Amino acid sequence: MKGIVLAGGTGSRLFPLTKITNKHLLPIYDKPMIYYPIQTLVDAGIRDIMVVTGGKNSGDFLRLLANGRQFGLKHIAYTYQEGEGGIAEALGLCEHFADGQKVCVILGDNIVEKSIRPAVEAFRRQERGARILLKEVPDAERFGVAEFEGDRIIGIEEKPENPKSRYAVTGIYMYDPTVFAKIATLKPSRRNELEITDVNNAYIHEGALAFSMLQGWWTDAGTFDSLLRAANLVAHSKVSGARAHAEALTI
Ligand code: DAU
Repeated sequence: MKGIVLAGGTGSRLFPLTKITNKHLLPIYDKPMIYYPIQTLVDAGIRDIMVVTGGKNSGDFLRLLANGRQFGLKHIAYTYQEGEGGIAEALGLCEHFADGQKVCVILGDNIVEKSIRPAVEAFRRQERGARILLKEVPDAERFGVAEFEGDRIIGIEEKPENPKSRYAVTGIYMYDPTVFAKIATLKPSRRNELEITDVNNAYIHEGALAFSMLQGWWTDAGTFDSLLRAANLVAHSKVSGARAHAEALTI
């Protein structure tokens, strides 16, 4: 399975932090934001990774990440998104890289506490279709939200005023190779983007969308509040991890 990190877009919700740099190069505690989704893929056993960037600072990704040695990788592939036509448009640029394989996609501003390996393994065993990761949240209206009938997802709404559940669709998506044909049929939404939610609804239509529940905390980092929350969650995890380690050594 190939890995894809989407780090295009303008980060307009973080202006002026993003006036002179790309959102995904901003710090989350002790590392640039883009490190976290790459590490999430690597920890799930995915080693063939493409980063989609855009804007004026795309060259900085190459200088920062180079061939991915800091992640134990030998190589990172890069591509460039002109403008900000949406998450699905950015993913569509990776068709050549995917080369007929399954893909695991993560948004460049999504940070998770625990490994996603169990979901990735489940998708490796899944013959076809897609798999998304859900997380129960108090502010579902900020996200794509799953609607259930029993334990089946029957639809996903993008940022609904009145969410039909508390389960947000996180920015971690796994797709079979038919995803690129689905993207090719999409029309721009009201916000003039090709929406990943429309891709997921296309899989639901075919009865081919599976889901896993994400373990541990999850946050995006695309607003001032979530950027701060992400840094605090990472810092807290590090401190409690270090404390547990020290306690284990003294026992
Ligand atoms: O974080 C999870 C949410 O991400 C999902 O629940 C939503 O369904 C999904 O639409 C998305 O919502 P946002 O509105 O928060 O996405 P945003 O526009 O902030 O973009 C998230 C990341 O996607 C961004 O950090 C980089 C990448 N992206 C986005 C756009 C619009 C691109 O690579 N290219 C783009 O054109």
